Amino acid sequence: MSSLFHRTSVRKFQDRPVEREKIERVLRAAMQAPSAVNQQPWEFFVVTNPEKKEALTEVTPYIRFGKKAPVIIVLAYRVHSTAPLFTDIDMAICTENLWLACDEEGLGGTMCGIAPVEAQIERASKILELPDDLRVFTIFPMGYPAEERAQQDRFDESRIHYVD
Ligand SMILES: Cc1cc2nc3c(=O)[nH]c(=O)nc-3n(C[C@H](O)[C@H](O)[C@H](O)COP(=O)(O)O)c2cc1C
Repeated sequence: MSSLFHRTSVRKFQDRPVEREKIERVLRAAMQAPSAVNQQPWEFFVVTNPEKKEALTEVTPYIRFGKKAPVIIVLAYRVHSTAPLFTDIDMAICTENLWLACDEEGLGGTMCGIAPVEAQIERASKILELPDDLRVFTIFPMGYPAEERAQQDRFDESRIHYVD
């Protein structure tokens, strides 16, 4: 449970590239996510190209911190999957797996919301020149953290409702 209680949003990064093996390990964790009817709707774009990174960080005002990230992972999904109604849920679980795995590898990042805002999905998908059947779900700038803070304790007993 250690990364569950250690992971935070990391928005400051060391000027240090991320090794390909580490990227593959965190993506392996992402792909282990459960999904509706096991549809696995995800595709991952590992972006290090400076122009593409810059453009991606301008899709919303809340991703600008990502300009200095050595890598941006873009999580996209296939439109024509078996259970498309559940795709956003699958993608969210997959993103959390990725986030936790980064923490375990000594890396950090932040999920930046793109879906379900149509205009943002279109803008981000256009930057990567995705085919029509692929759409961006989230943008995840990542790298070696240049900041560390304790995770906020969100436990709230009053949110637990025992139905005996
Ligand atoms: C769906 C979603 C969208 C988010 N979008 C952004 C974003 O656009 N920019 C950003 O800096 N953080 C974004 N975050 C990160 C949240 O602000 C962060 O997870 C929250 O404040 C809790 O902090 P923690 O991750 O450090 O525990 C997003 C998180 C989620 C789950």
